[in-house]
Amino acid sequence: MESYTIESNKKKSRLPARLDFAQSATGLILGLFIWMHLLFDGSIIFGKKVFSFVTGTLELSFLSDTGHGYPIIVFFAVTVISILFITHALLGMRKFPNSYKQHRIMADQVIITDHMETKLWYVQAITGFIMFFAGSVHLYTMFANPGSVDPYLSADRVVSGNMWLLYLVLLVCVVLHANIGLYRLCLKWGWFSGKDAKKSRLKLQMLRNRIIIFYLAIGVLGILAFTIIGMGHRDKAGERYLGQVTSVEMLVEMPQGLAQTPYIADSNE
Ligand code: HEM
Repeated sequence: MESYTIESNKKKSRLPARLDFAQSATGLILGLFIWMHLLFDGSIIFGKKVFSFVTGTLELSFLSDTGHGYPIIVFFAVTVISILFITHALLGMRKFPNSYKQHRIMADQVIITDHMETKLWYVQAITGFIMFFAGSVHLYTMFANPGSVDPYLSADRVVSGNMWLLYLVLLVCVVLHANIGLYRLCLKWGWFSGKDAKKSRLKLQMLRNRIIIFYLAIGVLGILAFTIIGMGHRDKAGERYLGQVTSVEMLVEMPQGLAQTPYIADSNE
């Protein structure tokens, strides 16, 4: 009787709702970041010059006289993304089954209910858990080497640094986690829910599946492109790419134009 009385007088805390909101907000930002990140990464599919142009532009190389980008930009981006990544993971841990018994109940529910949304939640939990480790390795590597993003150094990391396996695991986890997460956010906050809720949910599910297939495809093709470049560059691993491309004109320039442009003259194409 006494404990009931105390309980009913206590005002309901808003903290869980606020933490849920923070988890959605960090998830939304990280999800949109990964959409852009894998697109920029995927530019390697179109060759070293395009990747060099994209990474140079992201590092604001057009502001520098030398045409070189500013690694400090990467350093700041990694710092901000790492803080969001750790905050999101911490908030996610609140919902993790933290004992074998809880895990058993969760796993049984997935099997017994055969309910898609419950299964998707389970995929979120598993992929989130794997990214605790795989994502942290990648983020620390970029944090410690902010100036090492170029067609050769990235490809060397994938092949000579054996990061291809980590990237494959991370790719599958982040593409599933981010896109199932964005889909669940739309349902949770009622975004894009037209007049017919059932119809819009089906549309969202179709869009989610297509986005997952698209990003898995460009991710795998990207790792393949890095692997081909890295295999050809193994004996020169660690040598920077010198064919820095700082303008669209240089991107479309004919190979024979190489000699005329002093910057390209020392290219190691
Ligand atoms: C600002 C933070 C980040 C930076 C600067 C960054 C940078 C890069 C770079 C340069 C590559 C190309 C390969 C290499 O050079 O080693 C890459 C690949 C990749 N990154 Fe990140 N990354 C960041 C955050 C993340 C996060 C948070 C995730 C997921 C949790 C992630 C997932 C991946 C994946 C899956 C690949 C392989 C891409 C592919 O399939 O082509 N990255 N990242």
